[in-house]
Parts: sequence; structure tokens; C-alpha cells
Amino acid sequence: MHKNKSNSDLDFKLNEVSISLKQSIKNLDSHTHVRGESLYVDDVNIRQGTFHGVVFDSPKAHGIIKHIDYSKARALEGVERIFTYKDVPGKNQIGGIIPDEPLFAENEVHFWGMPIALIVAESEFIARQARALIDINIEDLPVITTAKQAKAKGSFINAPRSFSLGDFKKVFNDCKYVFEGETFSNGQEHLYIESQGAYAEPLENGTIKITSSTQGPTSVQSITARVLGVAMHKIEVDVTRLGGGFGGKEDQATPWAVMAALACYHLNQSVKLILNRHDDLRMTGKRHPYESTYKIGLSKDLKIMAYEAEFLQNSGAAADLSPAIAERTLFHSTNSYFVPNVTTKVISCKTNLPPNTAFRGFGGPQGMFVIESAIAKAASEIGVSARAIQEVNLLDENDTFSYGQIAKKVEAKNTWDSAKSIFDIETLEKDIEDFNKNNNSFKKGLTLMPITFGISFTNTPMNHARALVHIYLDGSVGISTAAVEMGQGVNTKMMQIAADVFSIPIDKIKIETTNTTRVANTSPSAASSTADLNGKATLMACNSLVERLKIVASEILKVSKDTIELKNESVYVKGEKSELTWTALISVAMLKRVALTENAHYATPEIHFDKTKEKGHPFAYHVYGTAIITTTVDCTRGTYEFDSVKIVHDYGKSMSEGIDLGQVEGALAQGIGWMTMEEIAYNDEGRLLSNALSTYKIPDIFSVPKDVEVIPVETDGNDMAILKSKAVGEPPLMYGIGAYFALQNAIKAFNPKYDLKFHAPMTPEKVLMGLYSK
Ligand code: MTE
Ligand code: HPA
Ligand code: MOS
Repeated sequence: MHKNKSNSDLDFKLNEVSISLKQSIKNLDSHTHVRGESLYVDDVNIRQGTFHGVVFDSPKAHGIIKHIDYSKARALEGVERIFTYKDVPGKNQIGGIIPDEPLFAENEVHFWGMPIALIVAESEFIARQARALIDINIEDLPVITTAKQAKAKGSFINAPRSFSLGDFKKVFNDCKYVFEGETFSNGQEHLYIESQGAYAEPLENGTIKITSSTQGPTSVQSITARVLGVAMHKIEVDVTRLGGGFGGKEDQATPWAVMAALACYHLNQSVKLILNRHDDLRMTGKRHPYESTYKIGLSKDLKIMAYEAEFLQNSGAAADLSPAIAERTLFHSTNSYFVPNVTTKVISCKTNLPPNTAFRGFGGPQGMFVIESAIAKAASEIGVSARAIQEVNLLDENDTFSYGQIAKKVEAKNTWDSAKSIFDIETLEKDIEDFNKNNNSFKKGLTLMPITFGISFTNTPMNHARALVHIYLDGSVGISTAAVEMGQGVNTKMMQIAADVFSIPIDKIKIETTNTTRVANTSPSAASSTADLNGKATLMACNSLVERLKIVASEILKVSKDTIELKNESVYVKGEKSELTWTALISVAMLKRVALTENAHYATPEIHFDKTKEKGHPFAYHVYGTAIITTTVDCTRGTYEFDSVKIVHDYGKSMSEGIDLGQVEGALAQGIGWMTMEEIAYNDEGRLLSNALSTYKIPDIFSVPKDVEVIPVETDGNDMAILKSKAVGEPPLMYGIGAYFALQNAIKAFNPKYDLKFHAPMTPEKVLMGLYSK
């Protein structure tokens, strides 16, 4: 009874969406999520006889493999086989951008946790027992764990990249103020709830189907084909949804899928491989730590005249996505500010850590942290608030980014000014001042954090997608795209688009799994662009079908096609509802042998980038926003809370306000976590110390800000965004950077002698040291 009621409530809400997109809609998955009915890789119905895999990985960060003895492991009852690089029929190579990463180590190991072999057994438990029986002898080689050490030794992934604008060298001489400094931002563990995993099953004629928890089904398909030495059409990859990816499954879902497929290829039996949390934490890469230096020059009226920065990216032991991430650091190195003279350089440093990888923001946050640090440093030296410098340098219409794109439809000042007025910054500051005057053991700090984030894959050729739309003969609809649902709500958005174009209720539409046989040659779901790219393709396919159906309707009703509209499951003529329903129209179209399937391809127009000149127009548009963050520090303990985060955010014209708000809140919590509490630690031997949730603290319900308010900025949206609804996945993470500076300000209020530090995360331990530093 109860259940039925809530269902009909939902149906009622969902139906409204087909009438107006401005209606907020709940994430379609929320119902199966809360009931525990949503399917993940571990829920796949496994075939009888399925084997289970466990990865044997390097217990050293760098060295030569002298000897491995698998005999005891092999002899264990229930162990089927142990696979190494010798079993690879194609290429033992999984590198995406640069071919520098073997699937299994051959003679040398490059990081602690590097896969060496796959043990396949009747159960995961047996495979794990077998792993403990393997003896390995590694001759140590020197271990590099930091980017600086790598630079000193000349250990790099590729050649450095550099952007420049204006003539920075000459200008520094004319600046009233010039400051230099160093910053560090640490890595970050993705901690998706669903750990990495895949299930591979043999089909006919050497075909293998892989169910994978990946953001990039096509990379899994093409790299599996490469490793197995088979054609891509032999490999099918299917994804229902991910229990989170956050960039950690853009590239790094691949090896596990390939290993499962390799074992499946040899055994002609299904193989399931799911990393447990410890294995996942140890074997996979994280957000890149950055060690950076900057030089900033300001005029007497606080205009940033010149900015120079060098970013040392700790890439880990192989390229993975590091070159693309490095590039995005340069794109976002001036954040929301216009700087007329810029020179930035990024160096991808090869170290003996697991290859670091995509993480929400994709190198952008690391770049922004440095300029915010430079501004904070300059403000503190000059004796003004950081706000005073931020405010006079905000990006304006037609300003040029250092990569040559001209800023259009800029909302930097608008969001800044709106945040100040809507949230009454004067009162907020006055309250904090009063509080700090009257309290000795607690101090408050406030900061403003503007963000500007470019939308599109920075690699222009990746900006395309396709949609395959079927209308079935009963009028229901099935949609396949390249979009991978990972909690961000993209399936809900795809459904809204189809419901809007066809004007049918949402329960008539199904978003199919993401499958390489239905939509091929896809880019990963990443760069916050999934809804834009796949949504535009879906829109095009649905529109074509509607055009076709209008011709059918005009023939049935004997009226001109231009007078016809599909609305609320009926055909309307000149605004009047006719007898002809959606379902009847589809039946007639079938009888008339009209195609009820459409495939559409969308490629973002206008964008381009010339890497030889490091200039172009790489982004379809930018997302803007400003956050005001306040914190209270307990000056006895060094602990802190974030009292409020008040944001004016540029959603464009949000098509899904509930989902978009969820993205802002989630990204904000993740950004604050990165900046203030999540502390990745490796020892000098390259062993991960923060290898469990007891030693790696992520934000919980008690540490997220008490009061989060997000106000959409009023704009007319952007046509390059799907239905003018801008991408939202990554940009709000960077509001979290403000949390770092709010803490600095609170410490300074307690200890005026405090010398600002730019070494993230700002853990309670560091806050405490700051409070009592001399
Ligand atoms: N939100 C949830 N719940 N889970 C995720 O894994 N990934 C983020 C963001 N929001 C993620 C998320 C990242 S890194 C990106 S790039 C975008 O979602 C990808 O989805 P989109 O392109 O549809 O925004
Ligand atoms: N963002 C996210 N993922 C990517 C990108 C990007 O710009 N380029 C390649 N993979
Ligand atoms: Mo997101 S880091 O582009 O997967």
C-alpha cells in the first residue's frame, strides 16, 4: 500500500517533466539505490564454473625481479592458473597516451602495487591464499617518490609544456610589488564506493563480453583487443552504472578488465576480478600531487601585471592521463583572473608511485591553488585582504586567456558581486570581526573563492558522441549513448531530453546500458562534458524521429506537416488536440514501414587548439561561480569546522536543478576534503601508508559545512550547453580551495605572527602548529 503510494507520487512528478523541463526531477536511480536494487559489477549473475582472480603485485617500488617462485601457489587446491606477461598473446602494453605501461611487470617493477601476475582460482578466497604463497626476490633500485627528486634526476614522462601571453619579463621590472614562493598540494584518493572490477565471459567464436566499472568503455575494448591481439569487434564492453568514478575509472578501470579478459581468453571460462579496498588503494593512482613555484607582480593599484609559475606534477611510474592533466593545469593557472603577462610551465615528473590519474578537475584545481596562494601571499605582504586583489583582477568580457581563447559571456564579476550582495558580505565580515574580538580560544576566518572552468575535452578530437534511439512498436523508447552513469545523474538528463522532445512520460523511456556494440568509438564519460555531448546527440536523434513522425501524422490527418506538434502523448494540429495519440501514431508509422530508429552524431563546433603554438579556442564555454566560505578554528585543539559555504553558481539554465545542486554539494565536500583533511602518505620506500580508512580521513557528515547555500546566477545560458544547461560535474570542486584560505585567515586572527603556509592539506595538526608558530 505504502509502496504504491510513493510510486504514484513519483510517477506524477516524473510526468510533469515532459510538460516543462524547468521542473526539477529526482535522479532516476535514487529508487533502486535506496532499495539496494541498483546493479554493479559485483551483482552480475555469474555463470556456473566462473573463476575468480586476485592480482599479485610488487612489494617494492623499484627494482629488478630476480626470481619469482609460483610453485606453492600453483599447487594449492582450487588454483586454476597463474597468468603473467608471458601469457599475453598481443602486446603487454596498456598505455593510452604514451605506450609506457605494461599490463604485467616483466623484468623490472616501477611502483609498489604494480601488477605482476593474475592468480585465477575457484574462489577469491583461494586465490588470495595462493597469493600469500608466492615468493619473490627483487633487487632494489633507487626509489623516487617526489616530483622534485624526479626533476633533480631528470626523470620525466614527456617534454614540458608552456603557455605564455604578453611579455612577462619586462613587466616584472615595472611592478610595484613582486613576490615569489612555493606551494604544495597533495594527492587525493578517489574512494569511489564500488572498487575497481570487471567480469569477462566467453561468447561464441572467440568473442568476449566484459562487464566493467569503467568511465571509458571504448578504452577497455581497444586496450583489451591490443593485449589479446584480436580485433576490436571480438570484444564487447557493457556498463550498467558505476558506484562512483570521479576520474579514477577514466583510465584505471582498464587493467582489471583486460586481466579478466586475458584469463577468459585462455580458459574459455568466465572470470571475475574485483579488487578489495586494500588492493585498490595500493594498486591504483590518485590525484597528482604538485610542487610548484610562482612569481607574481602587481601594480600599486593591485592589478596583477605578471604571473609566472612552474608546476612539477608527480605523475607516478607511467604516463596514464598525466600529459592531458598537465595541460589542463596550464589552462586554469590564472583561474578567474585576467593577467596580461603570463608564463606557465608544467613538467610531468616520473616517480615510483602508482601512475597518478584523472580526478575531478583534472589538474585544474592544482593550477588554481597556486595563483590563490600567490594572491594570499601578496595580500599578506602588502597588508591588504586577498579579496582586494581578487576583486580588481576578475576576468572581464573579451579578456584573453593565456591560451588565446577570448572570454565570452563572462560571469566572473557577476557571480562575485552577486555573492557579495545576496549573502551580505559586510555583515558576514563584521560578525566575524566581532567574534574574533570577543573570543580568544576560537577564531573565525572568511574567504571568497571565484572559479572559472573550461568545458570540453582539452584534446579537441575527443569532443564527439553518438546516440541510438529506438521507438518500439508499442510507443515505448530505448536510448543508448556513450554516457556512463556514475552517480552524476546523466541518465536522468538523457531521459529528460527524450521525454521533452517526444512529449511522452518518463516511464515510456528506458536508458539502456552503455555498450560498445550499440554506441562505438566513444570518448570516456569525463571532462564534465557527458551530458553536453551525449545529450546533444540524443536531442538530434529524437528530433529526426519527430520530423519523420510529423510526416506520418500529416498524412493521417491530411493537414500540413508544419501545423503539427507532438504534445502530452498526442498529436496537436494548430494547437488543438487531435484524436491521434502517440501510440496510434507509432502503430501507423510501423504499417507504413517508416524507420523508428535513429542514430545521431554530435561533434562540438567552433573548438580548436594548436599545440605547436599553444594557442586556440579549446573550450565550448566556461563555467563561473563564487563561493564565500567561513570557518571556526578551535585554537586549543587546532580542529575546525566550516560554518557556511555560500555560493553563486553559473548553471546556465539548469535542466535538472536537484541533480545539479547534488553535484555542487558533492564536489564542494570533495574539494574541502582534498584541501583540508585527506592526506595521502607514502614512505621513502614508496609504500602507501594511508592504505585504509583508519589512516585516510575523508569528509563525513560531521565535517561537511553546516550551512551550504547555492544560488543560481541569472543568465540566458549558453547554446553550446545541452538545453542551455551548463556542465556541472567538476567546477564546484574548486570552491573547496577557499576552505584552505579561510583557515589561514582564522589562524592569522589568533596569531598575527603566523607566516602563511601553502602546503595542502591544511590538517588540524598543521593548523595547531600554525596557531602557535613564532
Ligand atoms: N558525481 C558522482 N556522483 N560520481 C562521480 O563519479 N564524477 C565527477 C562528476 N561528478 C562523479 C560525479 C567527474 S570527475 C566528472 S568528469 C563528471 O561527474 C562526469 O560526468 P558528467 O560529464 O556527466 O558531468
Ligand atoms: N578532461 C577529462 N578527461 C580528459 C580530458 C579532459 O580535458 N582530456 C582527456 N581526458
Ligand atoms: Mo572527470 S576527472 O573528467 O572523470
